[in-house]
Amino acid sequence: MFCFFFEQNTKISAYRNFYFQKLTQKLYFCAMNSITPVITKDGSHTLYNEMAGEHYHSVFGAVQESEHIFIRAGLDAKRTSQDVLQVLEIGFGTGLNALLTLKWAEDHRQQVQYLGIEAFPLDETTYEQMNYPEILHIKPLLYLKMHHSTMQQQITPDFSIQILHEKFQNLQPEKNRFHVIFFDAFSPDSQPEMWTEEGFRELHNALVSGGVLITYSCKGTVKRALKAAGFQLEKLPGPPGKREFLRATALK
Ligand SMILES: C[S@@+](CC[C@H](N)C(=O)[O-])C[C@H]1O[C@@H](n2cnc3c(N)ncnc32)[C@H](O)[C@@H]1O
Repeated sequence: MFCFFFEQNTKISAYRNFYFQKLTQKLYFCAMNSITPVITKDGSHTLYNEMAGEHYHSVFGAVQESEHIFIRAGLDAKRTSQDVLQVLEIGFGTGLNALLTLKWAEDHRQQVQYLGIEAFPLDETTYEQMNYPEILHIKPLLYLKMHHSTMQQQITPDFSIQILHEKFQNLQPEKNRFHVIFFDAFSPDSQPEMWTEEGFRELHNALVSGGVLITYSCKGTVKRALKAAGFQLEKLPGPPGKREFLRATALK
């Protein structure tokens, strides 16, 4: 009898915890939805997320920043010999990095398979307001199709994508698969749980030897966590409004 009571109680509290967790996740998600579009200095949009207290990109220029950091220092550096370039993005957000990668893939006739990870996907009404297709001269339909790709989908002849709506912390990425990782989480001050040695070790394992992880943060704790996870670091000069950023190479 006591055992039964105990077991029932444990079950009840397990259910309670489960629903409490779901509720807090939902509340967090709703709070994540207090998100407003902002025009940055190069004329491209970004979003301001009230909960994180941060913009999704630099207010000095969203497209300019993404091109400088992720495309030039990531994709250009890895272009040479891969038949299919495998790219992983942590923090898919508006999909700007993915759209710039699509353009890069078509411009260079380089096949790219892209995997985007996003724990809090935006509403369609939010991302369809972004002016990226217009600025980058890409059909808006391709941008929308990209956002809907929860299964691997070929968007253009050289670019396919899958977006996983999942927390980075729950991810176990395939080992030795990726050539380039865009690590584009909110800052380590607002989301320290994203920037840990443990998480970076998973990403190190996911890269091929010589593969690179690019991130905009140069914070001491980030550099230490990346080094402890086995990466070799380079500081590169940043875009307007940012002195420097990091390229971390996985040498195996
Ligand atoms: C700086 S914004 C990313 C900007 C994005 N790369 C873009 O081009 O719009 C950070 C993103 O990380 C997402 N995020 C927050 N926590 C996350 C988690 N635990 N796992 C995966 N993504 C997360 C946010 O919802 C947000 O979209």
